[in-house]
Amino acid sequence: MGQVHHHVLPGRARNPNLADYDQAVTHFKWEDVERNFTWYDTGKVNMAYEAVDRHVREGRGEKTALLYSDSTRDESYTFADLQEKSNRFGNVLRKYRIGKGDRVFLFMPRQPELYFSLLGILKVGAVAGPLFEAFMETAVKDRLEDSGAVALVTTPELLHRVKREELPELRYIFLVGGGSDPENYVLDYETECASASEELEPEWLGLEDGLIMHYTSGSTGKPKGVYHVQRAMIQHYYSGKVVLDLLDDDIYWCTADPGWVTGTSYGIFAPWLCGVTNVVRGGRFSPRDWYQTIERNKVTVWYSAPTAFRMLMSAGTESLKGVDLSSLRHILSVGEPLNPEVIRWGDKVYSQRIHDTWWMTETGGQLICNFPGMDIKPGSMGRPLPGIKATILDDKGNKLPPYTMGNLAIQTPWPSMMDRIWNNSAKYEEYFRIPGWYISGDSAYMDDEGYFWFQGRVDDVINSAGERIGPFEVESKLIEHPAVAEAGVIGKPDTLRGEIVKAFISLRQGYIPSPELKAEIASFVRSGLSAHAAPREIEFKDKLPKTRSGKIMRRVLKAWELQLPAGDLSTIED
Ligand code: WTA
Repeated sequence: MGQVHHHVLPGRARNPNLADYDQAVTHFKWEDVERNFTWYDTGKVNMAYEAVDRHVREGRGEKTALLYSDSTRDESYTFADLQEKSNRFGNVLRKYRIGKGDRVFLFMPRQPELYFSLLGILKVGAVAGPLFEAFMETAVKDRLEDSGAVALVTTPELLHRVKREELPELRYIFLVGGGSDPENYVLDYETECASASEELEPEWLGLEDGLIMHYTSGSTGKPKGVYHVQRAMIQHYYSGKVVLDLLDDDIYWCTADPGWVTGTSYGIFAPWLCGVTNVVRGGRFSPRDWYQTIERNKVTVWYSAPTAFRMLMSAGTESLKGVDLSSLRHILSVGEPLNPEVIRWGDKVYSQRIHDTWWMTETGGQLICNFPGMDIKPGSMGRPLPGIKATILDDKGNKLPPYTMGNLAIQTPWPSMMDRIWNNSAKYEEYFRIPGWYISGDSAYMDDEGYFWFQGRVDDVINSAGERIGPFEVESKLIEHPAVAEAGVIGKPDTLRGEIVKAFISLRQGYIPSPELKAEIASFVRSGLSAHAAPREIEFKDKLPKTRSGKIMRRVLKAWELQLPAGDLSTIED
């Protein structure tokens, strides 16, 4: 545990940013990062301006900003193109009096218009809310309702999942890909943009004005709207430089969907703030397709997730035949623990180390990372970014010594720290219950060289293939099924996905357990909530373990599953 691995493959990072980590930490000042930007002088910002227009103004308008492809489209856009397209949509929004502080949501698959419209939303100072295309009715409704979104950008295929009549605040829907129904304020995105001006003065904002909202799951209650503000750009830019190692001529590919924070912080903001060419691949995962995306675009920096690497690993050497991956010089991972086994496999097939990075929706940006050029200890998340102080605390807020497991905590504040949980200040306060610290909900320990080692979640949140799934949301859906009396949901360890969703269910009287019923219940969640939240395993039980106050004890379910002792049962019902 915690020994340095001297057979280090350095990767091919070119930025000597952290050549001396301890020096960098000692001399680091956020002010020095801020000084890089024009806004340091004016005090006014706009993320979309900094990520797009600034490059045009500084003579980089003809540089390729977006390389998009899927099975039917293959397109390339310059920074000047992005400026024009986002200006047009910004003007459309202004025409309908949508502007500063309004929440405008996006519900569509990865495609260029998702990127154009998101930038357009930011141009006018509205707050963007990207949703996964996999969300079904209930998931979409909960998020639009809670956020009070006034407009939505979506596609004709997804429109039927939007329960308009239950969303009084949702005034406009912009349809990408044809169709309109003006009487019901459903407008054709293309037509509207075509008739709008391509000139637009962005809304000038303060660092504390809204930027983006991502809904994410905790162990209790509905998903929380994590609200980020403009100042996050300082961290996106800085980590783009020191962690992603982005330089002018890089071709960068982040495989994440913008429905997940990684797909915005590092799939939009960091690369474009740094002015690099950003690759977006639409469609589903396939090993062959992914490797061809790297080869065809000559991707140099690649940011993905452990489940994807594990799937590539299990696809075997066959999938690597005949593809040239020699352009790759820096590979990173986020979202779940990165197994040492996967790192060692990466050493072989990519001839370089995969760099693990740790952060959360709430943190807005990377906080603990394996930096380019740093000695990597396989299994460790790395060390805090210069400017970030991380530690391990016990439940009372006392610092714990090295090698002692406890709450992974980050000293407040940092530029991309969430500003609030929308409509729920109590939830927000919970993260900051120990003065001066953000409590992550992860447990970890630190070794004697300041490397952090992830141990698990403190709460019941499930992490399946990098997606955070709240057991409560799944349980709530399950008990809507007529056969289900009670349901308890846990994460069951899985070699490919990290964890899978497993549901324990007691049936209502008159229902007989059967494989068909299991399949039907799973499909009920899949079609009502989303595919990734649907239980991959269901076990029927006559009775579920409950506290005397009637709360299902997930901890006991987990112990059953892992065949471990159930721990303190003093509060159990009988
Ligand atoms: C987990 C992801 C181990 C962790 C950007 C965290 C990780 C949650 C790592 C956040 C990592 C993320 N190693 N676990 N490198 N990165 N996690 O909000 O439990 O979807 O609290 O954001 O994922 O998930 P989220």
